[in-house]
Amino acid sequence: MNLFSDPSLGIDSLGMRRAYQLAERGRGLTAPNPFVGCVVMRDERIVGEGYHHRAGEPHAEALALSAAGEAARGAHVFVTLEPCSHHGRTPPCVDALIAAGVARVSIGMPDPTAAAGGGAIRLREAGIEVDFELDSSPFEAQLEEWTSWVRRGRPWVRVKTALSLDGRPGTTAGARSAISGSGSLEVTMRLRSAADAVLVGAATALIDDPRLTVRPANETSHQPLRVVLSREHCPEELKMFTDGAGRVLCLSALADPHDWSPPQGVEVAHYSADEGLRGALHALGERGVTSVLVEAGPGLFSSMWREGVIDELVIYHAGGVAGSTAPVLMVDAGDDGDLNRSMRAVEAGVVGGDAITIWRPRSAEEFQRM
Ligand SMILES: NC(=O)c1ccc[n+]([C@@H]2O[C@H](COP(=O)([O-])OP(=O)(O)OC[C@H]3O[C@@H](n4cnc5c(N)ncnc54)[C@H](OP(=O)(O)O)[C@@H]3O)[C@@H](O)[C@H]2O)c1
Repeated sequence: MNLFSDPSLGIDSLGMRRAYQLAERGRGLTAPNPFVGCVVMRDERIVGEGYHHRAGEPHAEALALSAAGEAARGAHVFVTLEPCSHHGRTPPCVDALIAAGVARVSIGMPDPTAAAGGGAIRLREAGIEVDFELDSSPFEAQLEEWTSWVRRGRPWVRVKTALSLDGRPGTTAGARSAISGSGSLEVTMRLRSAADAVLVGAATALIDDPRLTVRPANETSHQPLRVVLSREHCPEELKMFTDGAGRVLCLSALADPHDWSPPQGVEVAHYSADEGLRGALHALGERGVTSVLVEAGPGLFSSMWREGVIDELVIYHAGGVAGSTAPVLMVDAGDDGDLNRSMRAVEAGVVGGDAITIWRPRSAEEFQRM
């Protein structure tokens, strides 16, 4: 997900660029399905378009073909992901394309799943001209969170943390501190609305008692699943349990009986402590969570860093200095650090006076070049 640039600007074909932009409208809404956009063109003119709104609802191709109506016959279709060839909750998109009599289908990237893949072959067998984009990278990047869930069975992990200019995550241990500004809040709302789930550690849940919602909300706002993570039992009284603003999952590594009856809308699930954070993430993946935003304080950040599960790091700076008595980000005695520059910056921007930097783990090849 790009916060400060638009990858669609690098896509040459008008139809593919529009399909990419349409797909973006479904980001965060379609899990466990991928978000996909589709455009139907006749004589260089768009005659139908659509995007997948929600799992269980029509796919992008079905919506675009229905918008085009009879104009779809002989048309050129642009779709960001290879049309599906299987019966899921909706019929196969390849059947709809064949039935509509389209002449040509241009595809952003192949479908990596065994169940839905193979759509291009079926279209060709039906006499439809099919081509894949020569440069599939914008489409692969657009769906990287979903494809990584398909591949690894666990969600893409985006960790966000606010730091003072002197690198501290707060001013006072055990208390909520306002070290981020309005620009950071705006970015947080964008990140939450793009995520399937938002996760905090139990300590942050108790201290900050956050809502973890997308605000301001309207009727169509997506509210991600809110997850409280603990190796022990989760806190039993939190605002988010009773605010009626969406689902909550208490995910803990303790499987022993616990006589707490969670309020309606709050689910309790367990994962194996032996599997550590990877076990917790797989438990989310099994629930169809393809991307999770972790709003990490020092304890959870340190665990995630050490266990190597961070796919992307978003750091906010709002300009203050916390001082030498403020808590540090990396906790636990015996941690002597490892300054091997394992992350590289991939994007940066200024929002409302706050600096936002986005970091990704370096690949093995990058390390070799350093
Ligand atoms: N600067 C920021 O962006 C930011 C963000 C969030 C919070 N904060 C601040 O951070 C402070 C709280 O920090 P903290 O370090 O105490 O809390 P934390 O970051 O929420 O991390 C500790 C919590 O995460 C859970 N956790 C940690 N490692 C885990 C693992 N390997 N597996 C499962 N669960 C794990 C722990 O649950 P159990 O101990 O129950 O096992 C613990 O309650 C508060 O003052 C809060 O305001 C700052």
